[in-house]
Amino acid sequence: MKTLHLATILLTLSGVLTQDREWRVKYPDKPICAVRGFSVSIPCSYSYPQNHQVKQKLWCSMNSNTDFCYKPPYVYNSLSNTKSDFEFTGDDKSDCTLLIHNVQFSYSGEYRFRFITNVTDGRFTGDPGVTLQVTDLKVSLIRLSGNGTLKQGDSLNLRCDVNCTHTSSQFVWSKNNQSLNTSGPVLHFPALTVRDSGKYTCTWETGETSGSETISLHVEDEMIYGETYNSWPFWMVVMVTAGLILVVVIYSRRHVHTEQLKEDDSDIYTTVQYNTFTMN
Ligand SMILES: *[C@@H]1O[C@H](CO)[C@@H](O)[C@H](O)[C@H]1NC(C)=O
Ligand SMILES: *[C@@H]1O[C@H](CO)[C@@H](O)[C@H](O)[C@H]1NC(C)=O
Ligand SMILES: *[C@@H]1O[C@H](CO)[C@@H](O)[C@H](O)[C@H]1NC(C)=O
Ligand SMILES: *[C@@H]1O[C@H](CO)[C@@H](O)[C@H](O)[C@H]1NC(C)=O
Ligand SMILES: *[C@@H]1O[C@H](CO)[C@@H](O)[C@H](O)[C@H]1NC(C)=O
Repeated sequence: MKTLHLATILLTLSGVLTQDREWRVKYPDKPICAVRGFSVSIPCSYSYPQNHQVKQKLWCSMNSNTDFCYKPPYVYNSLSNTKSDFEFTGDDKSDCTLLIHNVQFSYSGEYRFRFITNVTDGRFTGDPGVTLQVTDLKVSLIRLSGNGTLKQGDSLNLRCDVNCTHTSSQFVWSKNNQSLNTSGPVLHFPALTVRDSGKYTCTWETGETSGSETISLHVEDEMIYGETYNSWPFWMVVMVTAGLILVVVIYSRRHVHTEQLKEDDSDIYTTVQYNTFTMN
């Protein structure tokens, strides 16, 4: 029994060790979804036998590469210094992650990682590759009641859509850049109020990427005309009153000042009067 147990452990251990030295490229099994215009990171790991040193790392798109990644074109080539939307964020040992910036619809398709070592015939391509899907993030406004301009009491939903199936993704909503305490693709407004006006942003997040889209809501205040007629004169009265008080205060101050000075030396009066004038 004991020997058998030990043998099992040894087998498991050697299995783990040899597995690490195998020629292998590992990508996510499921397609990766990305939102157009945003960035996506494609996770990738690789391994190769010991006593090899990685000399070249390549990523190719099956859209443009018809030679199974054996020949150019490549979207990334570690031996060339060209800048593009395709950035390698891995290393020479085990990480082959590809970061794609400013994703476009034309970027969707299958991608493969290939690496070449210092040993003759020491080269390997991860086949099949990983699939990238590109989608737009859409925020739509669905009226549940009312028509025309949005009015108080109207009911509506804001719905956030991505056209791809992703198991672990989440939707986060924010209003005027402040996160809302909701999750899920739908933001429900049972009865609008003026305070619901604002910019609503839906952010869609997965482990590899995120994207966001904003929509503006403007809820009309039905009391707007009544308030307008009443409030303008009120503000005008406040301002005119304030202005009048200010004028009266300044005038009476100067008056008191000059009256006092007249009783004093008239030589000083003229100089002080001049100073007061320039200060005002
Ligand atoms: C490849 O590189 C490794 C690590 O530097 C070295 O041990 C090995 O001898 C090299 N092999 C050849 C064929 O150059
Ligand atoms: C808007 O809604 C009102 C009341 O619900 C209705 O009478 C009117 O026909 C609607 N107008 C349009 C253009 O749908
Ligand atoms: C969603 O994607 C599928 C397949 O890529 C496409 O046929 C369909 O038209 C898309 N739908 C929308 C609403 O974009
Ligand atoms: C919201 O945040 C984004 C980025 O964080 C910024 O560019 C934008 O100016 C902000 N808008 C407001 C209204 O604060
Ligand atoms: C956010 O929602 C959770 C549950 O939906 C609730 O327990 C919590 O009090 C809410 N927080 C705020 C700040 O509204």
